[in-house]
Amino acid sequence: MKHVVDQLQRPLRDLRISVTDRCNFRCSYCMPAEVFGPDYAFLPHEKILSFEEIERLVKVFVGFGVQKIRITGGEPLLRKDLPQLIKRIHGVEGVEDIAMTTNGTLLKKYAQALKDAGLARVSVSLDSLDEDRFLEMNGRRGKVKTVLEGIEKAAQVGLQVKINMVVKKGKNEQDIVQMAEFFKGKQHILRYIEYMDVGNSNGWRLDDVVAKKDIIEQVNTFSPLEAIAPNYKGEVASRFEYQDKKTEIGVISSVTESFCSTCSRARISAEGKLYTCLFATKGTDLRELLRVDEDDTAIKNCISTVWKERKDRYSDERNEQTMAERKKSKIEMSHIGG
Ligand code: GTP
Ligand code: 5AD
Ligand code: SF4
Ligand code: SF4
Repeated sequence: MKHVVDQLQRPLRDLRISVTDRCNFRCSYCMPAEVFGPDYAFLPHEKILSFEEIERLVKVFVGFGVQKIRITGGEPLLRKDLPQLIKRIHGVEGVEDIAMTTNGTLLKKYAQALKDAGLARVSVSLDSLDEDRFLEMNGRRGKVKTVLEGIEKAAQVGLQVKINMVVKKGKNEQDIVQMAEFFKGKQHILRYIEYMDVGNSNGWRLDDVVAKKDIIEQVNTFSPLEAIAPNYKGEVASRFEYQDKKTEIGVISSVTESFCSTCSRARISAEGKLYTCLFATKGTDLRELLRVDEDDTAIKNCISTVWKERKDRYSDERNEQTMAERKKSKIEMSHIGG
């Protein structure tokens, strides 16, 4: 099948699939407990794509040039039998790389099964090594120790591990250097993430963002860094290494240095909607097509049309006006993953 490019000549290379909108954390920047409370209406089972439906979509996307699959959530390990889905995706010809984004709480339990099923890499979220600050960041749900055990187990079974730390001013800035110290010399790659205005629930303010240059400056005071080239075109994180060249870190700067010009990521929500930007206000329903279309023709046409029409570059254009236009109408991060 033909590869497709969008209006800005960006190919479709990367597919991120959310397998559940539920999470056992309530991170203030993603699913604040005040909004995602006990009465919050999560998706019922029948509205969520089945493993068969996801596998079918993966095959179609591979036909368009996708080689990388990332499993996200919510928390993907809350989805029953997740290793079985990984196994199915691993079996699809043309899939070169399968990664997963997780909060790490269930990783110790599932790491081996995930690796055996064909998962290659995990990005584990960890915002602080201090129990109190971590509890505050995650809505008082999870312990640092549990996540660290998950990380160790993942590495032990042979999964490549990256650590994602969202930095929020006044909340966990003091952990920037502590995290750098802790992970220096370990093989996991620590990435600092600028706090973003995804969704409508987190009350984002520009003042709460710690900019990439300030993060780098802080890490530099601990141990000098040198910039290194990206691994591939369109890599989200800018890479750095310490002078001993043994440890790499990354910074993801969607707010102060956007990277839309190379964005080749499509996202599927747990309910089967296709989104072409993390900051999108609406998606395109593929679930209905999956349930009526017998030979994939309509699904392929739909994806191809959506991608060819795509013009998204929200982070490049972020300003008062674009933020006001999308106020209250953006998709939540917990619906489409990171
Ligand atoms: P690899 O380079 O394949 O390891 O993965 P990655 O860094 O793209 O994946 P990961 O899910 O770990 O991304 C880390 C974080 O970067 C996400 O949780 C988001 O916060 C942010 N991010 C990822 N993709 C995008 C994007 O397309 N736009 C913006 N604005 N932020 C993104
Ligand atoms: N800003 C930046 N990153 C976020 N994530 C979720 N919400 C935000 C936000 N507001 C990302 C984090 C986390 C992953 C699951 O999603 O990287 O590790
Ligand atoms: Fe859950 Fe990840 Fe969102 Fe935190 S950032 S609430 S762990 S999905
Ligand atoms: Fe891609 Fe949208 Fe992120 Fe820009 S803001 S990099 S277009 S997902």
